[in-house]
Amino acid sequence: MQTIRVNDKTFIPYLTAAQIDEQIKRIASSLNKDYEGKRPLFIAILNGSFMFASDLFKELTIEAEICFIKLASYKGTKSTGQVITSIGLDTSLTGRHVVIIEDIVDTGKTMHEFLPQLINQQPASLKITALLHKPDALAYPVTIDYLGFNVPDKFLLGYGLDYDGFARNLKEIYSLTDE
Ligand code: IMP
Ligand code: MG
Repeated sequence: MQTIRVNDKTFIPYLTAAQIDEQIKRIASSLNKDYEGKRPLFIAILNGSFMFASDLFKELTIEAEICFIKLASYKGTKSTGQVITSIGLDTSLTGRHVVIIEDIVDTGKTMHEFLPQLINQQPASLKITALLHKPDALAYPVTIDYLGFNVPDKFLLGYGLDYDGFARNLKEIYSLTDE
């Protein structure tokens, strides 16, 4: 893996495709055990989590459903502090075992604002899986039940994560250099 340029910024390799794959398999095997017979409903948060959601879902051997909602809070390399919903939930959560799929929990604001809406519908249980978590950036308390990696408070991209819409297609995850 090499240093890459996206728009005006330089990024260095941070996680390989093999490292990502290993964590996804580990998370999937926990989910396969914990949700056996529970027919869980996964909710993937677009756009960032589409690749993680797809790779994780393929590793599940249990009966499970998946649906998608679209929330956004980032502009460029910074959180705007505002969470906008542009595609809402069209499935009832009442009595369901629900697992949210996030690419990354950063300040925690997205989850903090979104969880009460879900709890309102009285799911049987509600857990979060996230590929990445920046513990140093967390401003709202969020518990991640199934986590891939704790990462430093730096802007990351690739594997679904974008910089102003670009570079989601990378198989690896890159980190912004401190130029
Ligand atoms: P939060 O609301 O601050 O926890 O931010 C969550 C959302 O911001 C994530 O689901 C991502 O879509 C986006 N985000 C946070 N950190 C990064 C990053 O380092 N790179 C790209 N997107 C990010
Ligand atoms: Mg996201």
